[in-house]
Amino acid sequence: MRIGTPLSATAKRVMLLGSGELGKEVIIALQRLGVEVIAVDRYDNAPGHQVAHRAYTINMADGDALLELVKKEKPDLIVPEIEALDTQMLANIEQQGLAEVIPKARATQLTMNREGIRCLAAEELGLPTSKYAFAESQDEIKQAIDNAVGYPCIVKPVMSSSGKGQSTIREEKDIQAAWDYAKSGGRVDRGRVIVEEMIQFDYEITLLTVRALNEQDKIETHFCEPIGHIQVGGDYVESWQPQPMSKVAKQKSQEIAKAITANLGGRGLFGVELFIKGDDVWFSEVSPRPHDTGMATMATQYQNEFELHARAILGLPVSTALREPGASAVIYGQMDVKGIAFEGIEKALAVPQTDIRLFGKPESFNKRRMGVALAYGNNVDDARQRAKEAASRVIPVRE
Ligand SMILES: Nc1ncnc2c1ncn2[C@@H]1O[C@H](COP(=O)(O)OP(=O)(O)O)[C@@H](O)[C@H]1O
Ligand SMILES: [Mg+2]
Repeated sequence: MRIGTPLSATAKRVMLLGSGELGKEVIIALQRLGVEVIAVDRYDNAPGHQVAHRAYTINMADGDALLELVKKEKPDLIVPEIEALDTQMLANIEQQGLAEVIPKARATQLTMNREGIRCLAAEELGLPTSKYAFAESQDEIKQAIDNAVGYPCIVKPVMSSSGKGQSTIREEKDIQAAWDYAKSGGRVDRGRVIVEEMIQFDYEITLLTVRALNEQDKIETHFCEPIGHIQVGGDYVESWQPQPMSKVAKQKSQEIAKAITANLGGRGLFGVELFIKGDDVWFSEVSPRPHDTGMATMATQYQNEFELHARAILGLPVSTALREPGASAVIYGQMDVKGIAFEGIEKALAVPQTDIRLFGKPESFNKRRMGVALAYGNNVDDARQRAKEAASRVIPVRE
């Protein structure tokens, strides 16, 4: 494995498609290894734009714009950080050999649509999932519930993320509101939803799974310790590592994660989302990239999830070892304003064994994730308390 000099003819060049808070950390990890990084996002001054060698603002769902930029920049690797991309163009770029798409263009195609990844997991690989059906109208939602899924259930646009357009149906009269909400929250394909049986899990985890080359140049699969998390309205607010699990549940989780990531292929880190009840495990979904709940690893692992991704995609060896237990708690904007400021940082960092990340997003919204507090320590409960305490001491203010 060879890395040249950034900004010279020998540079190893990586292009991030999507440069939010997760991309920003991947870029920093790549920068540390002397990689030349090109950050792309849909708006100016995105978090990753601020730490890359070059920054571009384009509509990444526009395949022609994407292709033009790839031809201009000639990256060795293309690293998608978001789902809202022209994934067919990525497949063309991969096929023409213009750049290597991480982990593979097919993985970005399958995971951008809940239908693709769900059918692969449940029907092709036979992995346990919630009961599900797809619908394109209120009537079809009702049929899906009556024939397959039952009450209560969850409706989600097939193309959406961060809980957008997602709601719970407890009885028949909720169907209309769920349909209307899904139509307003989805992207591109507004008329199709997945209806999922509600799993009454004890807890849910993200199992960060890394496919990296070993010394024999063969792909090996590595697992981080499970990350527990709490979601509110489909968006993560708190995460911690390690989540205690029964031996059986942990074993099943790793088997599921191995199966799905092996099918998606390529090198890189994946966030495999699983629901756990006793010794039972259900596959929920997978991100072929670092996961928001994995921000806790910035406090807990020798190589955090972003460093793991950077190493794996470059073909370098990885270690998923846990250093110590820890947690993350999200800092929200709490207001709609450009150029927000934060007060109380010194008070937040006065909480022992904590750290924060402020993402530097140019515009704040009430529910927009603007930063994260991290804590580490002897045990997860204690770290969670301190992460939440530190987050609560950061006060967003206007100007
Ligand atoms: N079938 C389900 N049963 C129980 N909870 C669910 C189910 N589907 C989603 N959830 C809850 O909603 C969260 C977000 O759903 P998810 O499918 O991961 O959407 P997104 O792609 O927006 O992250 C999950 O982490 C879980 O807490
Ligand atoms: Mg999810």
